[in-house]
Parts: sequence; structure tokens; C-alpha cells
Amino acid sequence: MTQEPVVLTQAADGVQTITLNRPDKLNALNFALTEGLVAALKAADADEAVRAVIVTGAGRGFCAGADTREFVVLTPDNQELVDRRAALTTELQGLVKHMSKPVIAAVNGYAMGGGSGLAISCDLALASESARFGYPEVKHGIVAAIVMAGLVEHVGRKAAFELVATGRTVDATEALKLGLVNRVVPDDELLAEAEELALALAAHPQNAMQATKKIFHQVAELPFSEGLKLGQQLNAQMRAFRQKEQVA
Ligand code: COA
Repeated sequence: MTQEPVVLTQAADGVQTITLNRPDKLNALNFALTEGLVAALKAADADEAVRAVIVTGAGRGFCAGADTREFVVLTPDNQELVDRRAALTTELQGLVKHMSKPVIAAVNGYAMGGGSGLAISCDLALASESARFGYPEVKHGIVAAIVMAGLVEHVGRKAAFELVATGRTVDATEALKLGLVNRVVPDDELLAEAEELALALAAHPQNAMQATKKIFHQVAELPFSEGLKLGQQLNAQMRAFRQKEQVA
């Protein structure tokens, strides 16, 4: 019997949809799925036909975080494997920021631990009404370590600490209030909304869209005066953009 791929990809009109496909495990991130996702995101970034990306989950979950069944082999006496896993997770959690194209998370259910980290690492995140977010690592006797930087970046410190210290789950409405997502939509409209948004982003002149994403993430990590300087440089360069693409 041939096994279903753990990552599905589908392209239409410049939009690449990447679907985590371990629905029976709520798309928990085992080695194979994490590697598959990293590869699919990199391939989308390298593909000139792709102008925007959607990441979503098959079934009733977006992503239940690290596959807890792999914890039995991730022990100090397997340090090489532990290091490889940490590097792979780090690569996934930091990848979207370094991609040139905008990536939208369509969060269709549970987004826990690394799943929540993946969702908020995307440039935009839409949540279905049944989406749930949480960082339960502490309950497993581990730490929400690699996802911490993204969480602290997106959420106020008091709320972020509460999430990682209690491990509590928040619903989509609270996630919106906390700034984890851009908006909440009815479950059956999630993918259509994500596609509409992706198509709108894909329709923009590509060099302007890509430079917007790049400077956004650069400025977010800079002190104000340095961000302003970077803006000045880009402002001077961007005048050439309109000549390269046909712009209204
Ligand atoms: N790793 C591996 N398998 C997982 C998983 C994970 N992180 N999360 C869910 N699954 C599996 C369950 O074991 C179950 O598989 P089974 O049917 O073979 O037993 C299946 O996915 C469905 O999960 P289930 O717990 O029955 O669904 P639920 O709706 O009752 O609960 C959650 C959903 C997300 C609350 C619950 O699955 C959960 O707490 N998962 C762990 C989340 C987590 O701690 N993630 C961070 C790890 S550091």
C-alpha cells in the first residue's frame, strides 16, 4: 500500500498551497513532516511562478506541535539526533521570515507548541472559529524554547509568559485579541478567505511585494533610527521598480 505524502502542495494562479498531511495525528511535526514542510516552503520560494503561499492543515487540526511519540528517542544519550531535531525545528520556525514571498497561515484547528509557532511565523494568519492555540510544552516537562522568540515578538510579554508558563489553550477570539492572528473567519470560509487574500498579494507587482516583505522583517529587528535609514535607502532604490514591471 502506498502511503500518502505528509505534505501536499497545490498551485493555482500564482498561489501555492502547502498542506500538512498527517490528519490522524493532528499534523504533529515528526521528522518527516518537518523536513517535508521545510522542503516545500523552500521550493515555493524558489519557484518563479509562485507569488504567495498558504500553509494549512489537513483534517481537523492545523498542527499539534512536536510529535510527542518521538520524545522516547530524543534523549541525552542520543545527542546527535537531539541536535539534528533542534536544528530542523529552528530552520522551520525561522524560514518564512527569510522567504521572499508572503506566506499566509490558514489555521483550521489546533495549533499547539510548534504548530502555533509555525502559524505565527507566517506573515499573515487567518484562524477559523474552531482554531485553538497553546504552548503546552511545560506540561510535558520540556520548554517552549525554539518557539519562544516568535511568541515574544508577536504578543505582549505578560500574555506571552502566561501562555508558556500555564500551557493553557486559547480560542480563536482570544488569539485575535492577543495579536496571534489577523482575523477569525467561519470554519467553512477559511480556505476561500486565505485564497482571496493570497490572490490579492499575488496580484501586486512582485518586486514591490518582495521588497515590502524584506524591509518589514528587517525593520522589525532594528532600532527606529536604523530602520528609518534602511527605509531611506529603499525609497531611493524603489523608483526603478515601476520601470521593470508594468504598473498602473
Ligand atoms: N504528537 C503526536 N501525536 C499527537 C499529537 C502530538 N503532539 N497531538 C495529537 N496527537 C495524536 C493523538 O495521539 C491521537 O492519535 P491516536 O488517535 O492514534 O491516539 C490523534 O492525534 C488525535 O488526538 P486527540 O488527543 O485524540 O484529539 P483531541 O481533540 O482529543 O485533543 C489536543 C486535541 C491537541 C488537545 C491533544 O491532541 C493534545 O493535547 N495534543 C498534544 C499537543 C502538544 O502537547 N503539543 C506540543 C508538544 S511539545
